[in-house]
Amino acid sequence: MSLLMHTLHVDLGERSYPVYIGRDLLADPAFLARHVAGSQAVIVSNDTVAPLYMEPVRAALGDGRRVTEVILPDGEQFKTLQTLERIFDRVMRDNHDRTTTFVALGGGVVGDVAGFAAACYQRGVNLVQVPTTLLAQVDSSVGGKTAVNHPLGKNMIGAFYQPRAVLIDTNTLQTLPDRELRAGLAEVLKYGLIADEPFYRWLQAQMPRLLAREEAALAEAIERSCNNKAQVVAADERESGLRAILNLGHTFGHAIETAQGYGNWLHGEAVAAGMVLAMDLSVRRGLVAAAELADLRRLLQDMHLPVAPPPDMRAEAFLELMARDKKVLDTRLRLVLLRAIGAAVIVDDVSRQELLSLLDGCGAFSS
Ligand code: NAD
Ligand code: GLY
Repeated sequence: MSLLMHTLHVDLGERSYPVYIGRDLLADPAFLARHVAGSQAVIVSNDTVAPLYMEPVRAALGDGRRVTEVILPDGEQFKTLQTLERIFDRVMRDNHDRTTTFVALGGGVVGDVAGFAAACYQRGVNLVQVPTTLLAQVDSSVGGKTAVNHPLGKNMIGAFYQPRAVLIDTNTLQTLPDRELRAGLAEVLKYGLIADEPFYRWLQAQMPRLLAREEAALAEAIERSCNNKAQVVAADERESGLRAILNLGHTFGHAIETAQGYGNWLHGEAVAAGMVLAMDLSVRRGLVAAAELADLRRLLQDMHLPVAPPPDMRAEAFLELMARDKKVLDTRLRLVLLRAIGAAVIVDDVSRQELLSLLDGCGAFSS
């Protein structure tokens, strides 16, 4: 029997939508079916997730609908325009019209690609996100950012496109590899650091339960994360200001992901190292106590997450890649720092020298 634990709402006027969080929601056809209005649907998944969870999703869409299943190869390296074209080829061949609904079944890669495909197909068709990684459940499925990568930069080609609903079945986390769970927990910590000190303190105390996949602890972490994200997105859907705080550690992290080759460092791992750099810079600027940085490092180490960039990553590569970040405006790099635990600040006055001494200090230079 399914157990709905929480329903949140992302409040965006006529684009508002529910986020359902609970156990075995996929086994209950009502949750999905009520957000797939027409007689056609496209389920986009990958070759790891589809064998695990396609069956209940297909069943929930019922016999009456024409359903196309698009199974992508698994991996960040397939988050490309070529993959998008492959989706469109299938959907065109199966004659889907603009009443069709795209269902994204998978982690953040599937969600971002399928979401962008839904945004583009016939200038926009309905989208339902069914995230199956912790990272996708707490971050990428909520808020409407969709994209593919360019060889020169992550998520550089995309659109803001909100789903009609997000369906989070916490049961799917049972099959998630440990490394992926930990990468997702890095994004969970982010919410505490940028906006919610009580949540951060709770996470510090509850991390062993989360790493042990205790259902109630995970459901609470997902709910508190999505709640934080929903509030930020409702206040600034298209990142004209506040929403940039959701990118704590991401400017450094995206540079690591791009430099290492997409898929070698997991997104959450790169974000973990990036958050340490952002916190370190905050400490150097006298905004946050050094003891908090030491605590964060220790916590991430306990979670087997990286606390520094790859040792072979040279500062020049870092700075060059960071200069391409989407938060660069009028050639000024904007970074998210902390002015306290639970309070982020966006700065645009970080000098090249400050960055060099930060990266040097954490061993990012090999010479
Ligand atoms: P992912 O989609 O690559 O999934 C990680 C791995 O887990 C994959 O091998 C996947 O097949 C597998 N998997 C997924 N669900 C599983 C399950 N239940 N059981 C077993 N295996 C499962 O990676 P991710 O960490 O989910 O997402 C990272 C992507 O999300 C990046 O491309 C990142 O840029 C993007 N992202 C987007 C946003 C946004 O706002 N749109 C926010 C954060 C991250
Ligand atoms: N993950 C960053 C954002 O949604 O804005």
